[in-house]
Amino acid sequence: MNLSALNKIATAMVAPGRGILAADESTSTIKKRFDAIGVESTADTRRDYRELMFRSTDAMAKCISGVILYDETIRQNAKDGTPLVKLIAQAGSIPGIKVDKGTKPLPFCPGEVITEGLDGLRERLVDYRSLGAKFAKWRAVIDIAPGIPSYDCLLTNAHALARYAALCQEGDIVPIVEPEVLMDRDHDIDRCATVTEWVLKTVFEQLYYQKVALEGMVLKPNMVVPGMKSAKQASATEVAEKTVRALKACVPAAVPGIAFLSGGQSDEDATAHLDAINRLGPLPWPVTFSYGRALQHAAQQAWKGKPENVAAAQRAFSHRARMNGLAAQGQWQADLERKAA
Ligand code: 13P
Repeated sequence: MNLSALNKIATAMVAPGRGILAADESTSTIKKRFDAIGVESTADTRRDYRELMFRSTDAMAKCISGVILYDETIRQNAKDGTPLVKLIAQAGSIPGIKVDKGTKPLPFCPGEVITEGLDGLRERLVDYRSLGAKFAKWRAVIDIAPGIPSYDCLLTNAHALARYAALCQEGDIVPIVEPEVLMDRDHDIDRCATVTEWVLKTVFEQLYYQKVALEGMVLKPNMVVPGMKSAKQASATEVAEKTVRALKACVPAAVPGIAFLSGGQSDEDATAHLDAINRLGPLPWPVTFSYGRALQHAAQQAWKGKPENVAAAQRAFSHRARMNGLAAQGQWQADLERKAA
């Protein structure tokens, strides 16, 4: 393992004013997104859609430090034959790869899941590295419901995350460690805070036991938010304060950076929350975005699969990238959204 090289990549992934584009939707997830805009999901439509984002060169260069790809995409060429990985690198952004294989029910833990994908991972990482990946992502999923999560679920998922992270570092790939506490239900913000702290403590304990070098990773956590169906929603200030409190209590300063997932927040909430978090700085680590839905939703709506809409989709994508780039520095303002509209 070359820790100083890993640290350099991790630091570049959270560079000031830049964040990560999560474009690693599995084939079944991207089909759902395309169904919503009436587009057939084929290898070519998936390529065309992702290519339009990677060719948003100004936004990519200024605001997108890295792109998480799916197995299909890292092997695909743009319409003109240029490998998509090369397009990303030419835009000054770092290519990365999702390596987990999704979730399965966790035995004897009703309603809970475990992320799979460790078997053969060492060999797959060698392949991905040869294809240009400099970092990887593994997502663990923790749900909140009555009696859930269980310690069994937290421990098995944290153990798998640490096994993945150690294999990545052994192969000179920076692991994004993503333990996601879901926001799909009706719990309040304090329950999310309690569970998020428990999850993060468990994850960092496993990272320690499995000898993962914190200097060579990036953490991708959820923000501390109420469940989407909670009757008690929270202000951006409350989200920011409770998120920062949980992170400071659990995330060692040796971690080069934190890049949040958006998790189902609206585009503007995801931006406003990131901005409010950074306004509470200085924080022990750079704090930025690694958004999937909150960076892409507007672009998908503008695109709708039509070549004549590509420029509008690129404008929509670039706008969200710029807004989140500002939020990563605590410099976003709501009226910048209105002006663009
Ligand atoms: P969302 O921002 O849509 O939650 O996706 C981020 C991600 O990469 C989930 O693994």
